[in-house]
Amino acid sequence: MLRSLMLLFGAAMFALVPTSSLGGTPQQAAPPPAPAAPAAAPAAPVSYPANPVKPTPESQAKAKSLYKMDCAMCHGDNGNGKTDVATSMGMTMPDWSDAKTLAGKQDGELFQTIRNGKDKMPPEAASRANDTELWNLVIYIRSFSKP
Ligand code: HEC
Repeated sequence: MLRSLMLLFGAAMFALVPTSSLGGTPQQAAPPPAPAAPAAAPAAPVSYPANPVKPTPESQAKAKSLYKMDCAMCHGDNGNGKTDVATSMGMTMPDWSDAKTLAGKQDGELFQTIRNGKDKMPPEAASRANDTELWNLVIYIRSFSKP
């Protein structure tokens, strides 16, 4: 009888030992609260002039014919850039049939690229396309990703 009581007592002691001292996962302290957002505003993105042009069917028809004469040889009739000229000149072309390509670009940035050229792309002279026509070209190339 005494022996069985002592066994019971021993078992009870064992059960009372905290699990942490038996190799269980120790309780983790709660993480400190996240720091408040920094007060300084992030650097302002470069801002380009907004597109001042409201496209009309006529101005877009003009843009389309300009595009076919001056741009399609490299960028392709559907704007995807998969052209023989691009391949033979070893150029990496943007694919405008994918809306993501131009999503992060402002019209004014595209305007400047067209007017000034970029890498192997020649500039579009004002004698070929005046500013209004060039803004219309920007609108036109954005239309390649629209159904
Ligand atoms: C000789 C081939 C060639 C011709 C012609 C050409 N481009 Fe390009 N264009 C390129 C190449 C190559 C790039 C990529 C330049 C780079 O990012 O390095 C490019 C880039 C651009 C970009 C920038 C796109 C972006 O995703 O940032 C625009 C906009 C553009 N072209 C418009 C035009 C327009 C409009 C015309 C016609 C007036 C034209 N291009 C004519 C080769 C050409």
